[in-house]
Amino acid sequence: MRDILVAGNWKMNGDAARNSELLAGILAGVPVSDRVRLLVCPPFPYLAAVAEQIADSPVELGAQTVSEHPSGAFTGEISAAMLRNVGCSYVLVGHSERRSLFGESSDAVAAKFSAALEGGLRPILCVGETLAEREAGETRIVIDRQLNAVLERVGIAGFGTAVVAYEPVWAIGTGLTATPEQAQDLHRHIRSILAAHDADVAETILILYGGSVKGDNAAGLFSMPDIDGGLIGGASLKASDFLAIATVAASL
Ligand code: PGA
Repeated sequence: MRDILVAGNWKMNGDAARNSELLAGILAGVPVSDRVRLLVCPPFPYLAAVAEQIADSPVELGAQTVSEHPSGAFTGEISAAMLRNVGCSYVLVGHSERRSLFGESSDAVAAKFSAALEGGLRPILCVGETLAEREAGETRIVIDRQLNAVLERVGIAGFGTAVVAYEPVWAIGTGLTATPEQAQDLHRHIRSILAAHDADVAETILILYGGSVKGDNAAGLFSMPDIDGGLIGGASLKASDFLAIATVAASL
């Protein structure tokens, strides 16, 4: 049986004091489970402090994006090796906000995924369709395109340590959630694309759902056979909300 990963994407929120309080709250209530893994992805400036605060805990650390370059004259960029150096094990790549607000193409996302692997990080590849794409019946086409860009770049072997997050854009931060059945349908589709390349990788890879996950909808989603946890935005900013989701995961 696969683990359940509950990952908090803090986005551009928080400050030193609020992060420390949030983490203290999370650390005080981590549910006991050998199947549930917790991850937080704070903004860059706080990674080192968060790493220190979670050092003796089961909570793991991730970043929200990474440069596609390993080092050099790229003002403002942060490399995978730097993230590793301050204690990250994971990094989000291709979050829909990066794709839509910062113009990251599928090729750029693939390059970041590759750079994450080179730097020893586990990429969490976010894929998902917009409302217009869903309404046009293009959901699978979009997801296939986003996945295939990465598969072409790193091959299926590159997915051995990776995680995929299916995040329908229309469900992010909107309070709308895909139904467990809608999400399961796409999760199974993603797993089947990977299975066409390597059955073992497809069987073991964690595929998270993201988009308005909360304590009261997590059970339905995480009970689905191909949903292995969640990428949580809004509900990761309050310890009680995040723990409610983690506790649901631990009860399954
Ligand atoms: P949300 O964000 O939980 O606030 O919808 C999810 C995400 O953007 O990863």
